[in-house]
Amino acid sequence: MNYARRPGIDSVALGRLAAREQQSFLTTHRESARLAQASAVHWLNGVPMHWMRDWSTPHPLFVRRARGAEIEDVDGNHYVDFCFGDTGAMFGHSPPPIARALAQAGAEGITAMLPAERVARVGEKLAALFGLPYWQVTQTATDANRAALRWARAITGRARVLCFDGCYHGTVDETLVRALPERQDKGGARARAGLIGMSHDVSAATDAVPFNDVVALEKVLARGRTAAVIAEPVMTNIGMVLPEEGFLRALRELTRRHGALLIIDETHTLSSARGGYARARNVEPDIWVCGKAIAGGMPCAVFGFTAEVEAGMRRVQQERAGGHSGMGTTLSANALALACLEASLDELMTVSNYQAMHDTAAYLSEGLGRVFAAAGLPWHVARVGARLEFGFGRPPRNGAESEREAWPEVEHAIHLFLLNRGVLLTPFHNMMLCSPVTTTAHADKLLAALHDCLREIGSAA
Ligand SMILES: Cc1ncc(COP(=O)(O)O)c(C=O)c1O
Repeated sequence: MNYARRPGIDSVALGRLAAREQQSFLTTHRESARLAQASAVHWLNGVPMHWMRDWSTPHPLFVRRARGAEIEDVDGNHYVDFCFGDTGAMFGHSPPPIARALAQAGAEGITAMLPAERVARVGEKLAALFGLPYWQVTQTATDANRAALRWARAITGRARVLCFDGCYHGTVDETLVRALPERQDKGGARARAGLIGMSHDVSAATDAVPFNDVVALEKVLARGRTAAVIAEPVMTNIGMVLPEEGFLRALRELTRRHGALLIIDETHTLSSARGGYARARNVEPDIWVCGKAIAGGMPCAVFGFTAEVEAGMRRVQQERAGGHSGMGTTLSANALALACLEASLDELMTVSNYQAMHDTAAYLSEGLGRVFAAAGLPWHVARVGARLEFGFGRPPRNGAESEREAWPEVEHAIHLFLLNRGVLLTPFHNMMLCSPVTTTAHADKLLAALHDCLREIGSAA
């Protein structure tokens, strides 16, 4: 077993704890168990979306309601939520401004495939907050990234895209790749293991290089075949990998020098600062993408772009034959989504909300450090604003390092132990978010439960 090779955790105690917590979950989640059985009759994997099975629980956990920072399940168990729907609910569950916008706009027409009255105003607000003059709306961040890559190829006339090893930008085919281990600094890529039903080689027009590797990045870009680099400014989907000093500056400089567009995907790093990480750190993307929490958790995503990119898009439109562009979905930019987007821009992404989120996240981060020190574990904590992650070793430099550090058995046991004590972490690695309504008391609950868990499984126990 993986954990047997690493110091700090007692594998026997870990196995004992995992079995006990599974049993404990089963006895306290009987209504969820009943619904799981009933749902299995008509839903694939028993759930309407298969990721809902990715939690550490023996069967799905069914939710009765979610408000603010808390969730109640169908058995009446209450949880402090640090997952927030993997970021969709980052500003809290059902924030009152979004609930109001939904009620109001819902009664006045949900979707018409015509621009709503508020569109000009929302465009102004997007430009003011995120610093890019032109915008489009999609249903999901996946859609926005897909469109951004297509535009980049059309504008530059180049076929290839470059992404970082271990990235995730949604189910965008050409980014579902990993770097080739034997030629990490030369580009190329392979399809990620486990993809289902692909009809073509998704890696055919993608180069993947390690994050924080300026030399590899430059080697690929210098070939002059890259339409766009797509990147999160901080990798958040293979654990959290922070950019090293100067890396994002080099990324911007090299993409400009070699004629590639820079697409910055802030679907997760919207947590880092009001207006996003790129604006706060002067990254100056050509195209900026954000989904999930951008409209308070309503299905909605946006991509913004520079005047130069807009000019390129207009040129492409003029030069092409008519017909379907291959981009867009019917419900994108519907009136309901636009109303929520405006409410979010006005009332969720406020200075005070960001301050509250960051203060609580800083408190939690320090607390985690103390818990690991008390347990004698050399684990690290990474934080970008309201988003935190702990990892089982030193801070990784790139996706491959982060992946090597993963410790699924320990992760699952900790997640289930916490869940049974009323604390939800994101099921993917060890990610936590603090919403504006997450309090230090909520953070203390997590810290106390984690402390108890580590006391039981730590090898010094
Ligand atoms: C950075 C990033 N971009 C895009 C996406 C895709 O978002 P969605 O699944 O809402 O399309 C994700 C999802 O986790 C993400 O983390």
